[in-house]
Amino acid sequence: MAERTLVLIKPDAVRRGLVGEVISRLERKGLTIDAMTLRTMDVALADQHYAEHVERDFYPPLRDFMTGGPLVSLIVAGDEAITVVRTLIGATDGRKAQPGSIRGDLSLSNRENLVHASDSPDSAKREIALWFPELAE
Ligand code: TYD
Ligand code: MG
Repeated sequence: MAERTLVLIKPDAVRRGLVGEVISRLERKGLTIDAMTLRTMDVALADQHYAEHVERDFYPPLRDFMTGGPLVSLIVAGDEAITVVRTLIGATDGRKAQPGSIRGDLSLSNRENLVHASDSPDSAKREIALWFPELAE
């Protein structure tokens, strides 16, 4: 059964010209794009999106990075899309992520790691409502 997940192609990917590469990998897997927008995240949205991390030491530089340029937000759909996209993007730290994954092939950073994807059904629901309120269920 089709499931929906929230994906962000982060500002480093936009800056590096990797938007097409990331979308291509999602499409080749068989996933579909239900919605897609280019926008720059403001601090208020960053604080909500990363609510679980706002108190962490790494949050201020993460917030500056995420709000520092345009990103692409998408709703991606498909069978077990939440787990499938997390597998495609790889581990958080690009230096440790498996080759073959997006981060493993294309990122050398624990912060500028190209892609965000919801990590559970609850976070997908919350994040879709945050980024695409008109498309929330
Ligand atoms: P997290 O939710 O742990 O990772 P993921 O994106 O794989 O779900 O962290 C959110 C983002 O915060 C992560 O993509 C990059 C950034 N981050 C840092 O900058 N430093 C860190 O030490 C960690 C753990 C994350
Ligand atoms: Mg996370």
